[in-house]
Amino acid sequence: MAAARERFHLTVLPKASPPSRDALLEGLRQAQAAICTLTEHLDQEILSQAPRLRVIANYAVGYNNIVLEAARARGIVVTNTPDVLTETTADLTWALLLATARRVAEGDRLVREGAWQGWEPTQLLGADVEGKTLGIIGMGRIGRAVARRASGFTMTVLYCSHGVSNPSALDSQWQRLPQDEVLARSDFISLHVPLTPDTHHVIGAAELRRMRPTAFLINTSRGPVVDEAALVDALRDGRLAGAGLDVYEQEPHLHPGLLQLRQVVLLPHLGSATLRTRIQMGMVCLENIQAVLEGRHAPNRVA
Ligand code: DGY
Repeated sequence: MAAARERFHLTVLPKASPPSRDALLEGLRQAQAAICTLTEHLDQEILSQAPRLRVIANYAVGYNNIVLEAARARGIVVTNTPDVLTETTADLTWALLLATARRVAEGDRLVREGAWQGWEPTQLLGADVEGKTLGIIGMGRIGRAVARRASGFTMTVLYCSHGVSNPSALDSQWQRLPQDEVLARSDFISLHVPLTPDTHHVIGAAELRRMRPTAFLINTSRGPVVDEAALVDALRDGRLAGAGLDVYEQEPHLHPGLLQLRQVVLLPHLGSATLRTRIQMGMVCLENIQAVLEGRHAPNRVA
């Protein structure tokens, strides 16, 4: 914020998450540039009332909150914040994976609630991670960073991906397979696809049925890539061992069934939430805005 104030005349919307539509319309009316987060939906109507807007710097790597065609049609550049959050999000994915497999949140609740009676041989038995198979759906930057960490746990890595942006960054030990096979053969499935019409509910009832009953699903990408109702059903019926979720279909609202399931670890969309990364994301937004306003190519242009 300090760096933004130094470079630009800054208007900060009232601290409400997400801001009301009226606040958004008012805030953008005179703006030449906007930094927005994934909770702000910038659609055709909003953009049509922002006549001076030249660039939207999305404070996230995902940009499903912006209607790109509407921005393109008005000549507005859209940018995101890749790279700076890759490792941080991969770390959180592993935190969730380990917490889910080893029942960390349940253990914490037991101790805090004063219900712990002492060590027992069969207390909160979890699943081993070491030597298991990790299935990655979406082998982009974050998928690869998650896969790299798996070697520390001597895991087999399987993956499926529509496209692979940087083939030289793939480890020859990782095996590319059709999605159905990745689902059927993995002990842990971790999702790293962007949210697009093609990836909406990429994990639905049929895909969950392909997974092993001993497997865990980890999602740090976007909530709507998983059919939450189908996930709740699978967990309730014992067709899946557990899930670690950082993102939800209707954030901040959760499917009520999730809250009742002890085998689910729930986080409030913390993927990139470290101080260093969040500062870097802000600086990337400023660099992109500055480039566009100075007539240069924005380094992280997505539209
Ligand atoms: C992203 O970058 O897309 C995250 O979800 C927010 O940090």
